Amino acid sequence: MQQDLQEILFSEAALNERVSELGAQITKDYEGKALTVVGILKGSNIFTSDLVRKINLPLKMDFMAVSSYGNATESTGVVQILKDLDKSIEGEHLLIVEDIVDSGLTLKYLKEILIARQPASIKICTLLDKPARRKENITPDYTGFEVPDEFIVGYGIDYAERYRNLPVVGILKREVYEK
Ligand code: IMP
Ligand code: MG
Repeated sequence: MQQDLQEILFSEAALNERVSELGAQITKDYEGKALTVVGILKGSNIFTSDLVRKINLPLKMDFMAVSSYGNATESTGVVQILKDLDKSIEGEHLLIVEDIVDSGLTLKYLKEILIARQPASIKICTLLDKPARRKENITPDYTGFEVPDEFIVGYGIDYAERYRNLPVVGILKREVYEK
């Protein structure tokens, strides 16, 4: 699979180190608060699993699965909920965990839906931020790494459902998706 990468951006060691740093920061920030970590499936599954093990606090985990309507390469801002949260989030401090923030449309919509359910607070933690393509005024509260405007895969992030199990994050060769 790694031969389909044009370039490795973040090695396993780099990912591990950054996830530990984020976990330590989140541990400080949420001390004494009722924290629910909400992983957005499927892309943030692996990141969420590693991150929660670096957060040294009692917490709850829940998951949502969403997909954007419209064509497959760019989100339209209308998010379809494929799987909703299992539990009420009223009064909970929510940490939404995303794989990558691109246009920001998905998160903006998601945040609006969740705010209506009256959590105590909502913050966003994303592994990757691709600010070059931002259309909505969304700034993640915690970011693993900024990435260039390229198609990224690995560590949970897919192209056509593949490459999620790559242990590194890299840029997919154009010939893979342009053929
Ligand atoms: P947004 O609504 O444009 O911010 O879309 C964000 C979602 O698009 C992410 O959660 C990913 O699922 C997907 N996405 C954005 N950029 C990439 C990429 O480079 N590789 C794989 N998926 C991506
Ligand atoms: Mg996603």
